[in-house]
Amino acid sequence: MNSREIIEGCKDHTMWSWAKGNDVSPLPIARAEGIYMYTPEGERIIDFNSQLMSVNIGHGHPKVRAAMKRQIDELLYVYPGAATAPRARLAKRLAAMLPGDLDTCFFTLGGAEANENAIKAARLYTGRHKILSRYRSYHGATNACMQLTGDPRRLFNEPGMPGVVRVMDPQPYDYSFGATDAERVANNLRYLEEIITYEGPQTIAAMFIETVTGTNGILPPPEGYLPALKALLEKYGILLVCDEVMCGFGRTGKMFAVEHYGVVPDIITLAKGLTSSYAPLGCMAVRAPIAKHFAENVFWGGLTYNAHCLGLATAEAVLDVMEEEKLVERAARMGEVMHGHMARLKAKHPCVRTHRNLGLFGIVKLQDRDGNRIAPYNGTHPAMAALAKHFRDNGLFTFVRWDGFMCNPPLIIDEAQMAEAFEIIDRGLTLVDQLVGG
Ligand SMILES: Cc1ncc(COP(=O)(O)O)c(C=O)c1O
Repeated sequence: MNSREIIEGCKDHTMWSWAKGNDVSPLPIARAEGIYMYTPEGERIIDFNSQLMSVNIGHGHPKVRAAMKRQIDELLYVYPGAATAPRARLAKRLAAMLPGDLDTCFFTLGGAEANENAIKAARLYTGRHKILSRYRSYHGATNACMQLTGDPRRLFNEPGMPGVVRVMDPQPYDYSFGATDAERVANNLRYLEEIITYEGPQTIAAMFIETVTGTNGILPPPEGYLPALKALLEKYGILLVCDEVMCGFGRTGKMFAVEHYGVVPDIITLAKGLTSSYAPLGCMAVRAPIAKHFAENVFWGGLTYNAHCLGLATAEAVLDVMEEEKLVERAARMGEVMHGHMARLKAKHPCVRTHRNLGLFGIVKLQDRDGNRIAPYNGTHPAMAALAKHFRDNGLFTFVRWDGFMCNPPLIIDEAQMAEAFEIIDRGLTLVDQLVGG
């Protein structure tokens, strides 16, 4: 099929995520390798967002493809009550890799299911029902996860599961809890403690956070936030659930983002990079006391595809590749290279308001000629649409949303490829400078 046939066929008979079917203009992709995707006609496109920040080892790695084929030939599916070798091996390996005593896994098909099961585990374990989450967050598109989610995608899915109490992040969008990290943390947690008091701590099972916020702005927590948050929640017997669906598996320059902050959450949720998205797999991992509870009490949850052999074998091979190619260390090193490019473009282009990255988890935010955000929260600006078109016309795939654009390439990216991507970005920013008159 050529590009036109693929696009028309998909548009005629499928629905699209977060979009009006009539408005979408999908990329027709025939194959992908490394950091590149190719259209049927052979146009090469740089994947500067690892798809949904998830193809961490790059596209089409031959070792993973071979391992997947081996598993297909060996065993594909048995019901979740059966025990399999890939299940035994991957769970043991994750238990050894995860911080502290996070050593018991429940496998799902993706991130939302991991969070759904974390809600269940937290409620069953604590006997409490409310869940705290933050406004600048995304936790998945299932019914309960949409309610945990703070960002505007929630609004069209309300009302949903009751009992979710959303709170401000330490860094809200256009408001500050203070001038220094110490002030921000102290003020945010004082505010949070007051909310916990009003809600009744005896009713709150858990608080969900993205360790490093992803789609809502690549926001690493302020210095000191995570240990202080953990201590505050512990004071009230509230579990901390760290959603590392997006920021886990090397993206931030550590295998798990919590490793930057010296905190062991009670539950961690994983997906995306776990299989580099080569096959659907998510995971909820719990600490020893919670695991003990579910050894002695029923876990009232289940999925037909819980612990599916193809996903598990894929994850094992992806973890092999990450180790052999030292991709976590590479993400940390290439994060510095990316920071250098961003700083150079900030010095050159008046339209660059700010930029940040932790490892290869990065974003650039833009401003108008008066130094105001180029677009408000959940808003847009013609210059952002022009920038998105420039990226598309010049063979760079990434997400342009509100006042920023994402920089999340596969962790295998090298210096020359990074320079090539930033050359396209540089020209795009010149266009924005002209459009906003900077
Ligand atoms: C932080 C976070 N949590 C959960 C999810 C949901 O994962 P999935 O789409 O695999 O259900 C996502 C997806 O983008 C995510 O970024």
